[in-house]
Amino acid sequence: MIKNFTSKVAGLGKYVPEKIVTNDDLSRLMDTSHDWIVERTGIKERRFIDKNSDEGTASMGVKAAEQALERAGISKDDVDLIVFATLSPDYYFPGSGVLVQDLMGIGTCPALDVRNQCSGFIYALSVADQYIRTGTYKNVLVIGSEYQSGGLDLTTRGRTVSVIFGDGAGAAVLTRHDNLDEGIRSSHLHSEGKHAEELAILGPTTKKWVHELFEDYDPDDKDYHPYMNGQLVFKNAVVRFSEVIHEALAKNGMTPSDIDMLIPHQANLRIAQFVQKKFGLSDKQVYNNIMRYGNTTAASIPIALCEAWEEGLINKGDNVVLAAFGSGFTWGSSLIKWV
Ligand code: ACO
Repeated sequence: MIKNFTSKVAGLGKYVPEKIVTNDDLSRLMDTSHDWIVERTGIKERRFIDKNSDEGTASMGVKAAEQALERAGISKDDVDLIVFATLSPDYYFPGSGVLVQDLMGIGTCPALDVRNQCSGFIYALSVADQYIRTGTYKNVLVIGSEYQSGGLDLTTRGRTVSVIFGDGAGAAVLTRHDNLDEGIRSSHLHSEGKHAEELAILGPTTKKWVHELFEDYDPDDKDYHPYMNGQLVFKNAVVRFSEVIHEALAKNGMTPSDIDMLIPHQANLRIAQFVQKKFGLSDKQVYNNIMRYGNTTAASIPIALCEAWEEGLINKGDNVVLAAFGSGFTWGSSLIKWV
């Protein structure tokens, strides 16, 4: 007889590079200002990897993962599967999941990379949850990590994109749980590929950016840097965030007042505030830390979830909703009854 399980978050971890880059630092590189960035995005500072260091997407993920495992009380040898979400993998191939596996000295467990950008962590969590529910795996290490700063155009030409993004990593250990009323209650995933190139990078890898590779690199060729149709993205984001949160609430017979904590992907504080207002949520029901880290894409939800938990804002029995929207376009939500 197949026994059904659910999955619970047993441990959370995060890591951000030491180097803090303020809005004033960016103003010295491009025509922007602290006030513009704060007013349009809520961001006050972000972390960038020191280019002279050895840090990268996988190695930051390892630091977050080690903290999550320690907090879960689970040895690396008990990890059955690694699911690694990123838009900035160390290489085109292989994926960063296997690099994490090697750096952590984990045996030959499966390692899977998820490439769903800002929705990456929610997609990754849902994959882990499905494997646990079916009894295939017991402990899954889910990581979101991004090294984005190396590929940003930090001149006035790239300012609309570059002031938003930062580097960092977050991780969660998902483990088997027997009480089907607790843990991850549902996941909701969507995508709409017709907007794929509205928020995309069509060029290089994070290890070797194109200007390092080619002498004939043309700084005006937009394919070499991330492109984003900001207003289209914004308009889609507020609609899709709302839809997918509604979907999670409806699936679980809940209303917005049942949400104890909403962790929206940290894309832009104005988007989070719009969603908060739309659902009539109080400040206590929504967690934001974009002011400190900017948009860390697949790492933003696990970093925020970890910090909210560290601050004692998430407790047993709480209904926690995660929601994201980003490049692809992709969007998704997850509703967790915290254990
Ligand atoms: N500093 C100063 N001025 C700027 C800057 C800057 N950094 N960037 C743009 N401007 C100027 C523009 O040139 C423009 O000037 P103009 O009116 O003279 O032409 C003016 O500011 C307004 O520009 P907009 O692009 O219209 O600014 P907007 O209010 O749309 O804000 C932003 C831009 C912050 C990027 C917004 O569109 C946004 O947040 N979009 C959504 C981002 C998002 O959610 N992404 C999804 C997740 S990311 C992922 O999945 C990888």
